Amino acid sequence: MKPVIVVHGGAGTIVKEKEEGYRTGVKQAALKGYNILKNGGSALDAVEEAVVVLEDNPYFNAGCGSVLNEKGDVEMDAIIMDGRNLASGAVSAVRCIANPIKLARLVMEKTDHLLLTDRGASLFAKAQGVSEVPGEMLVTDRSRERWRANLKPDSNPKVSQIGLGTVGAVAIDSEGNVACATSTGGITNKMVGRVGDTACIGSGGYADNLVGATSTTGHGESIMKVVLARLIMHHMEQGMTPEEAADTALSYMKKRVNGLGGVIVISKSGDWTAKFSTNQMSWAAVKDEQMQCGIYHGENQATTIEEARVRL
Ligand code: GLY
Repeated sequence: MKPVIVVHGGAGTIVKEKEEGYRTGVKQAALKGYNILKNGGSALDAVEEAVVVLEDNPYFNAGCGSVLNEKGDVEMDAIIMDGRNLASGAVSAVRCIANPIKLARLVMEKTDHLLLTDRGASLFAKAQGVSEVPGEMLVTDRSRERWRANLKPDSNPKVSQIGLGTVGAVAIDSEGNVACATSTGGITNKMVGRVGDTACIGSGGYADNLVGATSTTGHGESIMKVVLARLIMHHMEQGMTPEEAADTALSYMKKRVNGLGGVIVISKSGDWTAKFSTNQMSWAAVKDEQMQCGIYHGENQATTIEEARVRL
């Protein structure tokens, strides 16, 4: 099987001056994951490391750069899933953790549970030797400004709550195993303790070697109502291509609950797509030594992987 990786940097609206930063960020993440796959690494390692790159990049709403909750604090959700055996691990409402996706993987590998939240996740992190970082280290000027703006009585929460920048990755490795990973700070000015789609299996992501894998982004409550990631898998089980399944599920979410979002999808044979119902979504993919990326509907910038390696 030829290895393939697809990453997203979140669905929403991206301002012009930030576009190049988003493009570079998703390409760096895709390259990181692809290098792992090319060296014989697993899909699981590739999606985890690709997401770590995005969590560490303050442009994106995950890890450093996460949006703030109503009290001005960062609370993050993350999930990882292994298509070989449907093993999955997730954390929700975690604070002071630089890379929640790594903690999600530890939940998957070191516990009998699928999801740890808040204090329990924090106790588990300590027990596993995951060091805490000062909460302020995860807060950017931009997220603080956005939080302040949303506190104003005339702000429009409907606009501000469209999650921008949730990050994710899906991959297939040379053995034909698929995996997904998704990580987010959630929606800005959310209630303390709010758990979004990202932490929920079947909503924020799903991976099954018998079908493929998907990672989602967008308005979490809408995604949870339609269980978006599993819905896409279901459509593929019924014979749809990744593109048909993504379009069908996103338009159902729009029609049924008026929800917007985006998805990356890979099939068990390595076909992939990146689709969104928001204005924009940053994404990048590597397959057959070709790097592709885009932000706008219909955009697809392609380069060879060698060119990408030199430029990034
Ligand atoms: N999809 C990110 C969130 O709503 O939490």
